[in-house]
Amino acid sequence: MAQAPRGAETIEPVLVVIPTYNERDNLAPVLDRLHKALPDVDVLVVDDGSPDGTGELADERAAADKRVHVLHRTAKEGLGKAYIAGFHWGMERGYATFVEMDADGSHAPEDLPRLLDAVGDADLSIGSRYVPGGSTVNWPLRRTLLSRGANLYSRIALGIKVADMTAGFRAYRRPVLEKLALNEVASHGYCFQIDLTRRTADAGFDIVEVPITFTDREIGVSKMSGGIMSEAFFRVAEWGVQRRLAQLKRLLGRG
Ligand code: GDD
Ligand code: MN
Repeated sequence: MAQAPRGAETIEPVLVVIPTYNERDNLAPVLDRLHKALPDVDVLVVDDGSPDGTGELADERAAADKRVHVLHRTAKEGLGKAYIAGFHWGMERGYATFVEMDADGSHAPEDLPRLLDAVGDADLSIGSRYVPGGSTVNWPLRRTLLSRGANLYSRIALGIKVADMTAGFRAYRRPVLEKLALNEVASHGYCFQIDLTRRTADAGFDIVEVPITFTDREIGVSKMSGGIMSEAFFRVAEWGVQRRLAQLKRLLGRG
Protein backbone atom coordinates (compact mmCIF):
# COMPACT_ATOMS: atom_id res chain seq x y z
CA MET A 1 0.00 0.00 0.00
CA ALA A 2 1.29 3.45 -0.86
CA GLN A 3 2.19 5.44 2.18
CA ALA A 4 0.11 8.55 2.79
CA PRO A 5 2.23 11.69 2.40
CA ARG A 6 2.98 13.41 5.67
CA GLY A 7 0.39 16.00 6.42
CA ALA A 8 -2.31 13.86 4.84
CA GLU A 9 -3.09 12.18 8.12
CA THR A 10 -5.23 14.35 10.33
CA ILE A 11 -3.87 16.30 13.28
CA GLU A 12 -7.18 15.88 15.07
CA PRO A 13 -8.25 15.25 17.77
CA VAL A 14 -6.16 17.93 19.52
CA LEU A 15 -5.51 17.99 23.27
CA VAL A 16 -4.25 21.22 24.85
CA VAL A 17 -2.39 20.40 28.07
CA ILE A 18 -2.27 23.31 30.53
CA PRO A 19 -0.18 22.84 33.69
CA THR A 20 -1.31 24.95 36.63
CA TYR A 21 0.03 25.95 39.99
CA ASN A 22 -1.84 28.82 41.65
CA GLU A 23 -3.45 30.20 38.50
CA ARG A 24 -6.97 30.68 39.85
CA ASP A 25 -7.48 34.14 38.35
CA ASN A 26 -5.87 33.27 35.03
CA LEU A 27 -7.45 29.94 34.14
CA ALA A 28 -11.02 30.96 33.22
CA PRO A 29 -10.05 33.78 30.81
CA VAL A 30 -7.48 31.56 29.10
CA LEU A 31 -10.01 28.72 28.64
CA ASP A 32 -12.58 31.19 27.27
CA ARG A 33 -10.10 32.64 24.80
CA LEU A 34 -8.95 29.18 23.74
CA HIS A 35 -12.40 27.86 22.97
CA LYS A 36 -13.32 31.07 21.20
CA ALA A 37 -10.30 30.65 18.92
CA LEU A 38 -10.65 26.86 18.53
CA PRO A 39 -14.04 25.50 19.59
CA ASP A 40 -13.14 21.88 18.79
CA VAL A 41 -10.04 21.31 20.90
CA ASP A 42 -10.11 19.44 24.19
CA VAL A 43 -8.24 20.73 27.22
CA LEU A 44 -6.53 18.92 30.06
CA VAL A 45 -5.67 21.05 33.09
CA VAL A 46 -2.89 19.38 35.07
CA ASP A 47 -3.00 20.86 38.55
CA ASP A 48 -0.44 20.04 41.21
CA GLY A 49 -2.76 20.56 44.18
CA SER A 50 -2.68 24.38 43.96
CA PRO A 51 -3.47 25.82 47.41
CA ASP A 52 -5.38 28.73 45.82
CA GLY A 53 -8.17 26.47 44.53
CA THR A 54 -7.20 26.35 40.85
CA GLY A 55 -7.97 22.62 40.83
CA GLU A 56 -11.52 23.15 42.17
CA LEU A 57 -12.16 25.88 39.61
CA ALA A 58 -10.94 23.55 36.86
CA ASP A 59 -13.35 20.87 38.16
CA GLU A 60 -16.23 23.35 37.91
CA ARG A 61 -15.30 24.15 34.33
CA ALA A 62 -15.04 20.45 33.51
CA ALA A 63 -18.48 19.75 34.98
CA ALA A 64 -19.99 22.46 32.77
CA ASP A 65 -18.05 21.76 29.56
CA LYS A 66 -17.25 18.30 28.22
CA ARG A 67 -14.22 19.61 26.31
CA VAL A 68 -12.49 20.37 29.62
CA HIS A 69 -10.76 17.69 31.70
CA VAL A 70 -8.70 17.83 34.87
CA LEU A 71 -5.82 15.76 36.15
CA HIS A 72 -5.14 16.29 39.84
CA ARG A 73 -1.70 15.54 41.13
CA THR A 74 -1.01 15.56 44.84
CA ALA A 75 2.40 17.25 44.98
CA LYS A 76 4.10 20.11 43.14
CA GLU A 77 6.60 18.13 41.10
CA GLY A 78 7.41 20.67 38.41
CA LEU A 79 6.32 21.54 34.91
CA GLY A 80 8.02 18.55 33.27
CA LYS A 81 6.36 15.94 35.44
CA ALA A 82 2.97 17.61 34.98
CA TYR A 83 3.31 17.57 31.18
CA ILE A 84 4.42 13.95 31.07
CA ALA A 85 1.43 12.90 33.18
CA GLY A 86 -0.80 14.93 30.85
CA PHE A 87 0.70 13.38 27.72
CA HIS A 88 0.16 9.86 29.10
CA TRP A 89 -3.45 10.76 29.88
CA GLY A 90 -3.99 11.93 26.31
CA MET A 91 -2.14 9.04 24.65
CA GLU A 92 -4.40 6.58 26.45
CA ARG A 93 -7.38 8.44 25.01
CA GLY A 94 -6.25 8.50 21.39
CA TYR A 95 -5.41 12.18 20.78
CA ALA A 96 -3.37 12.87 17.62
CA THR A 97 -1.81 16.21 18.56
CA PHE A 98 -0.63 17.49 21.94
CA VAL A 99 -0.31 21.20 22.68
CA GLU A 100 1.67 22.72 25.55
CA MET A 101 0.42 26.10 26.75
CA ASP A 102 0.89 28.18 29.91
CA ALA A 103 -2.16 29.08 31.99
CA ASP A 104 -1.21 32.70 32.68
CA GLY A 105 -2.04 34.26 29.30
CA SER A 106 1.59 34.64 28.21
CA HIS A 107 0.81 32.34 25.30
CA ALA A 108 -2.02 33.83 23.24
CA PRO A 109 -4.59 31.13 22.42
CA GLU A 110 -5.30 33.19 19.27
CA ASP A 111 -1.85 32.11 18.01
CA LEU A 112 -2.64 28.41 18.33
CA PRO A 113 -4.26 28.00 14.87
CA ARG A 114 -0.93 29.03 13.30
CA LEU A 115 0.95 26.53 15.46
CA LEU A 116 -1.45 23.77 14.43
CA ASP A 117 -1.18 24.71 10.76
CA ALA A 118 2.60 24.47 11.02
CA VAL A 119 2.59 21.10 12.75
CA GLY A 120 0.47 19.71 9.93
CA ASP A 121 3.65 19.65 7.80
CA ALA A 122 6.07 18.81 10.60
CA ASP A 123 6.36 16.79 13.79
CA LEU A 124 6.85 19.55 16.34
CA SER A 125 5.96 23.22 15.98
CA ILE A 126 7.37 25.69 18.48
CA GLY A 127 5.87 29.09 19.19
CA SER A 128 9.12 31.01 19.09
CA ARG A 129 10.08 34.38 20.57
CA TYR A 130 13.47 34.39 18.87
CA VAL A 131 12.75 34.01 15.16
CA PRO A 132 11.96 37.05 12.96
CA GLY A 133 8.50 38.31 13.89
CA GLY A 134 8.63 36.84 17.40
CA SER A 135 8.94 38.97 20.55
CA THR A 136 8.51 39.29 24.30
CA VAL A 137 6.39 42.04 25.82
CA ASN A 138 6.64 43.41 29.39
CA TRP A 139 9.34 40.99 30.49
CA PRO A 140 11.78 42.54 32.96
CA LEU A 141 15.33 42.82 31.60
CA ARG A 142 16.43 40.15 34.08
CA ARG A 143 14.06 37.56 32.56
CA THR A 144 14.91 38.55 29.00
CA LEU A 145 18.61 38.10 29.68
CA LEU A 146 18.03 34.83 31.49
CA SER A 147 15.96 33.42 28.64
CA ARG A 148 18.37 34.64 25.95
CA GLY A 149 21.29 33.29 27.98
CA ALA A 150 19.62 29.91 28.50
CA ASN A 151 18.97 29.59 24.77
CA LEU A 152 22.49 30.63 23.80
CA TYR A 153 24.02 28.26 26.36
CA SER A 154 21.81 25.37 25.21
CA ARG A 155 22.56 25.99 21.55
CA ILE A 156 26.32 26.00 22.14
CA ALA A 157 26.24 23.01 24.49
CA LEU A 158 23.93 20.89 22.37
CA GLY A 159 24.56 22.14 18.85
CA ILE A 160 20.85 22.17 17.98
CA LYS A 161 19.62 24.86 15.61
CA VAL A 162 16.43 25.89 17.36
CA ALA A 163 16.21 29.57 18.33
CA ASP A 164 13.76 29.15 21.24
CA MET A 165 14.57 25.85 22.90
CA THR A 166 12.97 26.80 26.24
CA ALA A 167 9.66 27.82 24.67
CA GLY A 168 6.58 26.46 26.37
CA PHE A 169 4.02 26.97 23.58
CA ARG A 170 4.23 23.97 21.24
CA ALA A 171 2.37 21.32 19.30
CA TYR A 172 3.62 17.72 19.10
CA ARG A 173 2.30 15.06 16.72
CA ARG A 174 1.53 11.82 18.47
CA PRO A 175 4.31 9.71 16.83
CA VAL A 176 6.93 11.95 18.43
CA LEU A 177 5.65 11.32 21.94
CA GLU A 178 5.25 7.62 21.18
CA LYS A 179 8.88 7.37 20.16
CA LEU A 180 10.46 9.50 22.87
CA ALA A 181 10.31 7.09 25.84
CA LEU A 182 8.67 9.66 28.08
CA ASN A 183 9.26 7.46 31.11
CA GLU A 184 12.98 8.14 30.81
CA VAL A 185 12.56 11.93 30.91
CA ALA A 186 13.83 12.95 34.33
CA SER A 187 13.60 16.76 33.96
CA HIS A 188 11.34 18.39 36.51
CA GLY A 189 11.49 22.12 35.77
CA TYR A 190 11.58 24.29 32.66
CA CYS A 191 14.60 22.38 31.27
CA PHE A 192 11.96 19.83 30.33
CA GLN A 193 11.41 22.01 27.24
CA ILE A 194 15.08 21.80 26.24
CA ASP A 195 15.08 18.08 27.02
CA LEU A 196 12.14 17.31 24.74
CA THR A 197 13.54 19.54 21.99
CA ARG A 198 16.84 17.65 21.99
CA ARG A 199 15.12 14.26 22.11
CA THR A 200 12.84 15.25 19.21
CA ALA A 201 15.81 16.49 17.15
CA ASP A 202 17.91 13.40 17.95
CA ALA A 203 15.11 11.10 16.86
CA GLY A 204 15.17 12.81 13.44
CA PHE A 205 11.78 14.52 13.62
CA ASP A 206 11.03 17.80 11.80
CA ILE A 207 10.89 20.88 14.03
CA VAL A 208 9.48 24.20 12.80
CA GLU A 209 9.41 27.52 14.63
CA VAL A 210 6.47 29.88 14.32
CA PRO A 211 6.89 33.48 15.53
CA ILE A 212 4.79 34.40 18.56
CA THR A 213 4.53 37.31 20.96
CA PHE A 214 5.05 36.24 24.57
CA THR A 215 3.39 38.70 26.96
CA ASP A 216 4.36 38.60 30.62
CA ARG A 217 1.59 37.65 33.01
CA GLU A 218 -0.49 40.41 34.60
CA ILE A 219 -1.83 38.33 37.49
CA GLY A 220 -0.01 36.00 39.87
CA VAL A 221 3.68 35.16 40.01
CA SER A 222 6.15 33.17 37.93
CA LYS A 223 7.21 29.82 39.36
CA MET A 224 10.76 30.26 38.08
CA SER A 225 13.24 29.53 40.90
CA GLY A 226 16.91 29.01 41.64
CA GLY A 227 16.31 25.26 41.70
CA ILE A 228 14.76 25.34 38.22
CA MET A 229 17.73 27.35 36.91
CA SER A 230 20.40 25.13 38.41
CA GLU A 231 18.64 21.95 37.23
CA ALA A 232 18.70 23.39 33.69
CA PHE A 233 22.34 24.45 33.94
CA PHE A 234 23.64 21.07 35.07
CA ARG A 235 21.42 18.89 32.92
CA VAL A 236 22.26 20.83 29.74
CA ALA A 237 25.98 20.48 30.54
CA GLU A 238 25.53 16.73 30.99
CA TRP A 239 23.57 16.34 27.74
CA GLY A 240 26.18 18.40 25.92
CA VAL A 241 29.02 16.15 27.09
CA GLN A 242 27.00 13.04 26.16
CA ARG A 243 26.35 14.40 22.66
CA ARG A 244 29.99 15.31 22.06
CA LEU A 245 31.15 11.89 23.25
CA ALA A 246 28.65 10.16 20.96
CA GLN A 247 29.86 12.30 18.03
CA LEU A 248 33.47 11.47 18.84
CA LYS A 249 32.70 7.74 19.04
CA ARG A 250 31.01 7.85 15.63
CA LEU A 251 34.02 9.67 14.18
CA LEU A 252 36.56 7.23 15.65
CA GLY A 253 34.44 4.25 14.62
CA ARG A 254 34.49 5.50 11.06
CA GLY A 255 38.20 6.30 10.99
N1 GDD B 1 1.24 21.58 37.42
C1 GDD B 1 2.27 22.41 37.53
N2 GDD B 1 3.30 22.07 38.37
N3 GDD B 1 2.29 23.54 36.81
C2 GDD B 1 3.35 24.37 36.94
C3 GDD B 1 4.44 24.10 37.79
C4 GDD B 1 4.40 22.89 38.55
O1 GDD B 1 5.29 22.56 39.33
N4 GDD B 1 5.34 25.12 37.66
C5 GDD B 1 4.82 25.98 36.78
N5 GDD B 1 3.61 25.55 36.35
C6 GDD B 1 2.72 26.17 35.37
C7 GDD B 1 2.28 27.58 35.70
O2 GDD B 1 1.13 27.59 36.52
C8 GDD B 1 2.03 28.14 34.31
O3 GDD B 1 0.77 27.78 33.81
C9 GDD B 1 3.11 27.47 33.47
O4 GDD B 1 3.46 26.28 34.16
C10 GDD B 1 4.36 28.33 33.25
O5 GDD B 1 4.85 28.75 34.50
P1 GDD B 1 5.31 30.26 34.77
O6 GDD B 1 5.80 30.33 36.17
O7 GDD B 1 4.27 31.22 34.34
O8 GDD B 1 6.57 30.34 33.79
P2 GDD B 1 7.35 31.63 33.29
O9 GDD B 1 6.39 32.61 32.70
O10 GDD B 1 8.24 32.09 34.37
O11 GDD B 1 8.23 30.93 32.17
C11 GDD B 1 7.91 30.91 30.79
O12 GDD B 1 9.14 30.90 30.15
C12 GDD B 1 9.90 29.73 30.36
C13 GDD B 1 11.26 29.94 29.79
O13 GDD B 1 11.19 30.41 28.50
C14 GDD B 1 7.14 29.71 30.33
O14 GDD B 1 6.73 29.92 28.98
C15 GDD B 1 7.91 28.40 30.40
O15 GDD B 1 7.15 27.38 29.77
C16 GDD B 1 9.22 28.57 29.71
O16 GDD B 1 10.01 27.39 29.81
MN1 MN C 1 4.35 32.73 32.91
